[in-house]
Amino acid sequence: MKLSKPLIIGIAGGSGSGKTSVTNSIYEVFKEHSVVVIEQDFYYKDQSHLDFEERLLTNYDHPLAFDNKLLISHLRKLLVRQSVEKPIYDYTLHTRSEKSVLIEPKDVIILEGILVLEDEALRNLMDIKLFVDTDADLRIIRRILRDINERGRSIESVVEQYLSVVRPMHNQFIEPTKRYADIIIPEGGHNEVAIDLMVTKIKTILENGTELYYDDDINQ
Ligand code: C5P
Repeated sequence: MKLSKPLIIGIAGGSGSGKTSVTNSIYEVFKEHSVVVIEQDFYYKDQSHLDFEERLLTNYDHPLAFDNKLLISHLRKLLVRQSVEKPIYDYTLHTRSEKSVLIEPKDVIILEGILVLEDEALRNLMDIKLFVDTDADLRIIRRILRDINERGRSIESVVEQYLSVVRPMHNQFIEPTKRYADIIIPEGGHNEVAIDLMVTKIKTILENGTELYYDDDINQ
């Protein structure tokens, strides 16, 4: 049997590429309607059993750093209109917070994160796949400012992490997922044409909701 289902939009791209700006622009248009944002970052594996020093050794840009099993199970619940307790992640402590946030099911689910297009099972849940493509110099500048202002980092630690981990992992795992994208958005957050096109597409789907189906195998 086929059932109507919520729309899932995956938004991938390197750290500092502007994924959050694209996400926010789409969210703003549909927030009165029915939209929810799920950040893959909030599904980093729980590391509360590790000492702080040990957590610093984790490679946060590798696919294995994420608890995609939990993420997929939450998406599947939202797909069948059940609510979930979304984890909250603490970048200063490098682990999941003890708190979570209740997420109600919505018609549009935006899943954003550096590696959301890397996992085949995640990709298979998506109706629309976007890749935000921004030059490396802009990405590192944004990251330096953000990590110092919002994530409690020093300039030395950001540069060291970028050169040793973020940059090589980007080239190895993130950049190749461009091939899975339906749309590649250059200069993400500032690309109004691309965002308008996406908004129009989403509106069309919402108005003709029967366009979306899923097999109930997805529940198994
Ligand atoms: O928001 P953004 O897409 O930049 O978040 C992903 C980045 O967060 C990754 O590139 C990873 O290096 C960084 N990160 C971190 N420390 C953590 C978890 C993630 O620096 N504890």
